[in-house]
Formats: sequence, structure tokens, C-alpha cells
Amino acid sequence: MQTAKITARAHTNIALIKYWGKKDEKLIIPQNSSLSLTLDHFYTDTTVQFDENLTKDHFSLNGKDCEATKVSAFLDLVRQKSGLDLPARVISVNHVPTMAGLASSASAYAALALAASTAAGLKLNKTELSRLARRGSGSACRSIYGGFVEWQKGHDDQSSFAKPFIEAPTWDIKMIAIVINAAKKKISSRFGMQHVVQTSPYYPAWVESTEQDLALIKDAILQEDFVKMGTLAEKSAMKMHALNLSADPHFNYFEPESLEAMQAVEQLRADGIACYYTMDAGPNVKVICQGQDLETILAKLKQHFRAEQLLVSAPGPGATLLERN
Ligand code: PMV
Repeated sequence: MQTAKITARAHTNIALIKYWGKKDEKLIIPQNSSLSLTLDHFYTDTTVQFDENLTKDHFSLNGKDCEATKVSAFLDLVRQKSGLDLPARVISVNHVPTMAGLASSASAYAALALAASTAAGLKLNKTELSRLARRGSGSACRSIYGGFVEWQKGHDDQSSFAKPFIEAPTWDIKMIAIVINAAKKKISSRFGMQHVVQTSPYYPAWVESTEQDLALIKDAILQEDFVKMGTLAEKSAMKMHALNLSADPHFNYFEPESLEAMQAVEQLRADGIACYYTMDAGPNVKVICQGQDLETILAKLKQHFRAEQLLVSAPGPGATLLERN
């Protein structure tokens, strides 16, 4: 017996108000709510077929056979929910530099949640899909939706999921990803966030101030107040990285070129161009700007980086099924 072969596409998202720390490591319940923007330029396509002729799960990423342990653990959740106890073949193609801090795990688990649950015959609604994707990687729960998305932290499996804030923004927002190092990151987000929860003396202040930042950024987005939104996003990112610097032992994701990019953005701001940076669990810097300023900002960044290092995105759509055969 073979199920239908299902392909789903999900786009990455970049948090403007960051998630950094879990309350429940197994269920992936976060310490704070977060808010992100789904991007059109980076996505993952994943095909899943359950097949009784297989003896175990198979996983290939970008054409290469890979260790399937994490994928298998995720598929187990789908097998439990559906009662379909068969191994599966999972084929993923990442249109995102894998593990470079450009949130490939978000698009990967959102696409896997949709493809695997559909192949297994589950007809999950978006809230259920978001909960399922969360179990693979927290930020993946937000990639079920397009545009601006809020992950409500909740307190258990049922109550922790993302919901759309503005799914198809008409605002002309762009995000420039500056790819500084596309290699696998040195400190996983799983380890990094666990370590700051346990050791940073600033952690309680992070949780408290992030709830305030979230309320403020939602107002800014509704008012299309770019300066307010960008200022809050940059602040959230720097607070997250300050947790890393204040952990014991401390660690960080900065490389010399990350700081160079941040200084270039600050210089542009000093010259009157509204643009703001954010950074995740890797050295790449993402610059949030308005479409009207894109060319000016790119020209400035090209004084520091090669054109291939600068990848421009706009708000992107939620997870969708691509084909059924
Ligand atoms: O979902 P994870 O485990 O990849 O964690 C992602 C955490 C950040 O990207 C750094 C912040 C966020 O909210 O996406």
C-alpha cells in the first residue's frame, strides 16, 4: 500500500519580535509570544509518500540522502495522529541556504507538516497545522501563514500556535538578507536558547519587555508606522543577542561582517534613510526597509558586500500544496 505522493511549499519567516527560550523543551512551548514576516524569496518544497514497501523512513535534502532521525521523530507525530503506521519517503528541496540563520527550519517543518499530514489522510486546519509544525521547530508554526504572523505562546500543546496578524500586507515592505556566511551555524538555536534561559541574569527582563514590544509593534504595523516598527524589530533582535552575551559561558553569532552590515545600516539611517537590521541564530543580517528606499540601500550595501550576498524579499504567502499524484 502506498499513499498519494504529496508536495507542499512553505516560505521562511523572519521574526521582528523574537522567540528565544522555551518553557517546555519537548512540546516546544515558548517563554514569550513572537511576531514575524513570512518572506517570498526563501522556501522549502517537500514531498512525502508513506509506503509499506519501505523498511524505514528515507529523507533526502537537496538531492542528498540524509540522516532521517529528526524527520522520523516528526513523522511519528503524524503517524500517531492518523493511525497510519507506515514508513515514508521524504524529499526536500531548500531554496534557502540551509542552517545559515535564514530560518530554513521554519520553512522545512511547515512544508513537512502540510505534506506529511495530507499524505497520511489527515485534513488539518491551519491552527492544527501550526501546532504540528511547532513540534518540529518553534518558528515553523508561523510559516503556515503569509505576511505578518503572531505566535501566541500559550501554555500547552493546544494553546500554543500561530495566527495571522495581516496575511497579505499591502504595505511596500522589503527585507534584504545579507548572506555573510552560508555555512552551518556553530551554536544551534535549541542549545543557544536553552542556555540563556538557564544562565542569563537578564532572562526575566527579556520575557517581560518582549510582551510590551509585541503590543507596540502590532500597533505600529496597523498604523503602517515604519520607523516605529523597524525600531522595535531592531531592539528585539539586539535584546536577544544581549541574552547570548550575558549567558554563562557567553556566546554570540556575530562575525566581523555582521557588525559591518549593522554599521552600514546605522550610517544609512544617519543619512536619513529609514532601515533597520535584525539577526537570528547565525551571522547573517537582514535589513528591513520600504520599497521606495531599496535601490539606495542596495547601492550602499554593495560598497561592503558582493551583489550575490544581497537577497531581496517581499512579504510571502503561507504554506500551500503544490501537486497531487
Ligand atoms: O524555531 P527555531 O528553533 O529555529 O528558533 C528560531 C529562533 C529565532 O529564529 C532566532 C527567532 C525566531 O523567533 O524565529
